[in-house]
Amino acid sequence: MASRNTVLLRSFAKPAITASLLCAILVVTGCSVEPAEPSAYANAIDVPPGFPEQQFPADNVPNDHRIALGRFLFYSQLLSHDSDVACASCHYQGASFSSSQAISPGTQGRLGTRNAPSLANIGYKPHFLMEGGVPTLEMQALVPIQEHSEFGMNMLDVINRFENNATVQSLSMKAYGRRFDAYVLTRAIASFERTFVSGRSRADQDQLTAAEQRGRKLFFSDRTSCSSCHGGVFYTNHGFANNGAYEQYSDQGRQRLTGKQSDAAVFAIPSLRNVSVSSPYMHDGRMETLSDVIAHYDRGGFDHPNKSPLIRPLGLTQRECDDLEAFLTSLTDQTFLYNPRFAP
Ligand code: HEC
Ligand code: HEC
Repeated sequence: MASRNTVLLRSFAKPAITASLLCAILVVTGCSVEPAEPSAYANAIDVPPGFPEQQFPADNVPNDHRIALGRFLFYSQLLSHDSDVACASCHYQGASFSSSQAISPGTQGRLGTRNAPSLANIGYKPHFLMEGGVPTLEMQALVPIQEHSEFGMNMLDVINRFENNATVQSLSMKAYGRRFDAYVLTRAIASFERTFVSGRSRADQDQLTAAEQRGRKLFFSDRTSCSSCHGGVFYTNHGFANNGAYEQYSDQGRQRLTGKQSDAAVFAIPSLRNVSVSSPYMHDGRMETLSDVIAHYDRGGFDHPNKSPLIRPLGLTQRECDDLEAFLTSLTDQTFLYNPRFAP
């Protein structure tokens, strides 16, 4: 099965790239830049207390037009081969822009191999995909378009579909001062994604029940080491690790990118914000509930040569497991999941 990683490696690591992809990359990285309209992006993008300011590429500072076009595209099925799926089919707002299916079908029902992750706070990520091989959100937007098991499309065909679409052409002119093309498509989608900021959960407001407070203490303790990997304001250190989830991995993880044995079955450490609504869990969505995940960590996971030494039997009581789960659930941000600005 052609996996997305094949595309990823072809696009960003190996010279053997297809003509259309090369064309798309040139457009994406090209330097023809229309001056961004000075716009109060601060109004469009929430910065919750304790969050840093987001950094934007110089040629893609978000403004209302850019975000509006990106929003339209994110929900458009015309990006997919059979006009049957949109970004939002796999990244659903109510699930923190993740999928509630372990493997969500792309165009013509084609299946990939990985679970669609949450896109909450995606604008703050330093690298994308589970092996971390894609450096910018603009480049990431190319991946689903070309990926066989997602949109299975050619960028030029996508652009042609909008040739006579007055709404898209007019928004494109307002947003980037040019007709709709790959440059505009990738930048507009990235602009919309950068608005996906989530930092207003009960845990952020310090309104925790007694059980959640006990869970928080455990989470940030040396007894569990959860926060060594899932710490900080984003509940991830943006690093990579093997957490011993399985006895056998069919996914090479970061090794696919680096070729190193020490990166086999090593995956990007996910953020735990909104984790209670982003089930199922892990790279392939094989763990169904948060209690399955906590039971896994309590057991210390399966042996794997690359398993982090932080993953070891924890000896938690049932109440401690419940407390941890209660704390993880308090990271749910209702203002994010129901914000009408993110809806179709
Ligand atoms: C068929 C389901 C599917 C569709 C359609 C889809 N995605 Fe995804 N998306 C995934 C999966 C699965 C991953 C994880 C892939 C990986 O890490 O290799 C992912 C990863 C991502 C990531 C990286 C997340 C991270 O934390 O690194 C972003 C950003 C993203 N998708 C945005 C989009 C956008 C924008 C679109 C539409 C242009 C889209 N996706 C369409 C399934 C989908
Ligand atoms: C050594 C680093 C490390 C430690 C310590 C760690 N994790 Fe993780 N965690 C990971 C990685 C890596 C993944 C993703 C693995 C995969 O995709 O297969 C993950 C996944 C998860 C997920 C699933 C998230 C999702 O969206 O799929 C949850 C929930 C989670 N961890 C909670 C915890 C808790 C609770 C603790 C403490 C008991 C903990 N983690 C300790 C590295 C770590």
